[in-house]
Amino acid sequence: CGIIGIVGTAPVQDRLVESLKRLEYRGYDSAGIAGQVDGKLQRRRAPGKLRELEAVLVADPLRATTGIGHTRWATHGAPTERNAHPHIAGNVAVVHNGIIENFAELRAEMQAKGRVFSSDTDSEVVAHLIDQAMTEGLAPLAAFEATIARLRGAYALAVLVGGEREVIMGARNGPPLAVGYGDGEMFIGSDGMALGPFTNRVAYLSDGDYVVIDHNSARIFDEAGLPAIRPIKVLAASSAIMEKGNYRHFMEKEIHDQPEGCQRTIAAYVDTLAERTAVPGDIDFATLQRIQIVACGTAYIAGLIGKYLIEQLADLPVDVEVASEFRYREPALNAGSLAIAISQSGETADTLAALRYCQAKGMKSAAVVNAVDSTIAREVDVVWPIHCGPEIGVASTKAFTSQVSVLTTLAVAIARARGKIDAAEERRLVRVLLEAPRLIAESINLEEAVRGVALEVSKARDVLYLGRGPMYPLALEGALKLKEISYIHAEGYAAGELKHGPIALVDEHTPIVILAPFDSYFEKSASNMSEVMARGGQVVFITDPEGERHAPPGARVVVTAPRCDPLIAPLVMSAPIQLLAYHVAVLKGADVDQPRNLAKSVTVE
Ligand code: G6P
Repeated sequence: CGIIGIVGTAPVQDRLVESLKRLEYRGYDSAGIAGQVDGKLQRRRAPGKLRELEAVLVADPLRATTGIGHTRWATHGAPTERNAHPHIAGNVAVVHNGIIENFAELRAEMQAKGRVFSSDTDSEVVAHLIDQAMTEGLAPLAAFEATIARLRGAYALAVLVGGEREVIMGARNGPPLAVGYGDGEMFIGSDGMALGPFTNRVAYLSDGDYVVIDHNSARIFDEAGLPAIRPIKVLAASSAIMEKGNYRHFMEKEIHDQPEGCQRTIAAYVDTLAERTAVPGDIDFATLQRIQIVACGTAYIAGLIGKYLIEQLADLPVDVEVASEFRYREPALNAGSLAIAISQSGETADTLAALRYCQAKGMKSAAVVNAVDSTIAREVDVVWPIHCGPEIGVASTKAFTSQVSVLTTLAVAIARARGKIDAAEERRLVRVLLEAPRLIAESINLEEAVRGVALEVSKARDVLYLGRGPMYPLALEGALKLKEISYIHAEGYAAGELKHGPIALVDEHTPIVILAPFDSYFEKSASNMSEVMARGGQVVFITDPEGERHAPPGARVVVTAPRCDPLIAPLVMSAPIQLLAYHVAVLKGADVDQPRNLAKSVTVE
């Protein structure tokens, strides 16, 4: 979820909505705002996308100069109007991002005091607790303090108290909260981007902090309730919301942005003149014992590709794990390992927790992030940014290939530092890397060929994606992309695993996407393809010109991507699978940029 609060001098409604637009990447199940009108709380809410709330506001404007707003990714309670934030209890309105784990017990306690709840959320109890404490005689700030002391779980909160001098209280425990400093106006919000239209002077709360803002100041307190100072950063100007240009969807634009994104990213990690890798940070790759990558979703798959490349080139063990499993299963770690968190947003709650787990074990840490002001970026020893620009489409594309670009460069740098390749080989591989953007552009140009098979795939109920070596994680990514935006069930498999189960699914109705450039795995993949065809399976074969020449008899080559060095094959082969998912989703009329049930950044576990 995304939250925003403004203590303003001018009407606040449109500004709250403007901020929520920038926060919609955090969820879009419902939205709402609340404000003070003549000292009384008023709110407007609507289920569905923000435009539904906008329609409500046209019919029934909220005339306030101080207010809070929320865009929701549902955890507890269906995405209906009654579950939309802000939640109001008595004189208190609350917006919440996170999960209050002990809400059931707190709610029972409040109900025992005669309080009536009007939603199914975990969040509403926060409003009741504060209001209850106030009716028992506490001042608003004391009531807020007493309330947050009782909350278990994760939260970023913004609270408005009716009739009070115009103030907003906020608290952070887990999900991020930033304070924006304006001119006679103050702001709090989930990120700097949400505050971008109003101010570029922003301070980030630390975990456990809470804050009271009024027209001119922010009083920040730490976990112990002591006044705290958090440095004010001046953010780079973030003007208008990103535009789609001539593209129909952000995802389509972002697929096409990839050559440039990868070019800028690779350029940041190599010395182009000397043709050497130049990875920033003071990590001694030569003495590293292990790498532990933690990430979620598409970033996790980028990590898997990193593992294949780093282990193969640099002979250094790499473990990759989905952060939500890693953080709780008490993995065996040693302090001589480097933890690498991969996260586009830098805010994913599970990834952050997994990273902190590694740090607590004494490991040095690095992060591959897009959002350099994010919590993860602030907490690691070394930040390895990607340089693809903001990614808006919920299904990650250009962030993925930029993450893979960083990891590929890293593999070469580590191999060199450990003496696994010599200077000449490093130069050769750097030249290969520098070729990648051009080859990615060529593979994006295969869009028409991909569109040709999209219709067939769009009619399928299930789709299998197969690959070997680094094409295996890419098969996982192909399946994930298709699932996310077209709602067709898809599975990615290591091609060699086919015979151990998924082959049972093969029939003439199941398209099987085989990713097989002409590399050292090709013959094996070709055999798997023959096994599929022998059972009537419909193969969608994505390869390169050599692979096309060596295709098994009867195979229909669908996409011939440019031939490239195996080092950059994951980068070059990405566009066809992204475009396939994209065109299938378009054919199905799905909401490509904001698929149902998903959010771009998930700050709850
Ligand atoms: C969400 C998004 C995915 C993304 C994952 C990790 O689930 O829908 O597209 O891969 O989070 O996000 P991160 O920001 O950590 O890369």
